[in-house]
Amino acid sequence: MPNAPIRTAVFPVAGYGTRFLPATKAMAKEMLTVVDKPLIQYGLEEAMAAGITRFVLVTGRGKQAIEDHFDLAYELQATLKARGKEAAVAEITDYLPPPGAIHYVRQREALGLGHAVWCARELAGEAPFAVVSPDDLVLSRTACLKQLVDAYETLGGNLTAVMDVPRADTARYGVLATPDPDSRTPRVDGLVEKPAPEAAPSTLSIIGRYILQPEIFEELGRHERSVGGEIQLTDAMAALIGRQPFHGLRFEGERFDCGTKDGWLAANIAYALADPARRAAAAATVRRFAAELDRD
Ligand code: G1P
Repeated sequence: MPNAPIRTAVFPVAGYGTRFLPATKAMAKEMLTVVDKPLIQYGLEEAMAAGITRFVLVTGRGKQAIEDHFDLAYELQATLKARGKEAAVAEITDYLPPPGAIHYVRQREALGLGHAVWCARELAGEAPFAVVSPDDLVLSRTACLKQLVDAYETLGGNLTAVMDVPRADTARYGVLATPDPDSRTPRVDGLVEKPAPEAAPSTLSIIGRYILQPEIFEELGRHERSVGGEIQLTDAMAALIGRQPFHGLRFEGERFDCGTKDGWLAANIAYALADPARRAAAAATVRRFAAELDRD
């Protein structure tokens, strides 16, 4: 039997963005822009490129701007139209999924990533689904989630995007225990959330793209807290190992942690250089500062 298609993606967007203060004091971190688009727009566009048609945003207080960004802006549109700015109208409407495709549910308390995903259970239903963390931006030829969906079509079960990180950084990630760490799709034998470098079973680390089977909700429903006092998605995934296929995918592309100031800054430079319309200006700026650094 072919693996059930992935049509739903869950986007955890309720986080406070404490690593990005003061910018995120009164603004959703998912609305931070990389060049000219907010992070959440990149996330939905990536999901659309992977064949997703149902978008579940797990949101919270103070995140209204996200809903507005995926709505029509009649006054703005009418004004632009009256001024003959058709290209600008397209820029604010082209990325919108069809009416009714986006669903919002609130995570009332910040109890962790696992809890956020659990809040989507009624909307995700009984089918396998994807999870996309908008903080993790992946610049790639093929959308990162599409790479995951393609691998899922052969492997089935559960999958997470993984990359090698310096051993010193394992305490920032979920880390794989695997018998074949050099494989493109390493089999997952164990998962540890944020291990200390000396305790990490490998350096292969999870980044925020997942394909999960609906049984994950039973595990999440136990509401067991662990690292940081939070309900961790990693723990619930670990409980599925052995019961269902579970693989990592070394994706093609470069990942930027846009939940941090340094990662976001790097993403802006990389995305500007990758955009034909921005490349020349961005390269000139980078060269100017590089020359200044060389003189230091
Ligand atoms: C979460 C997950 C972690 C994963 C990381 C990727 O951690 O719990 O397993 O490696 O996302 O970005 P967070 O960054 O939310 O602390």
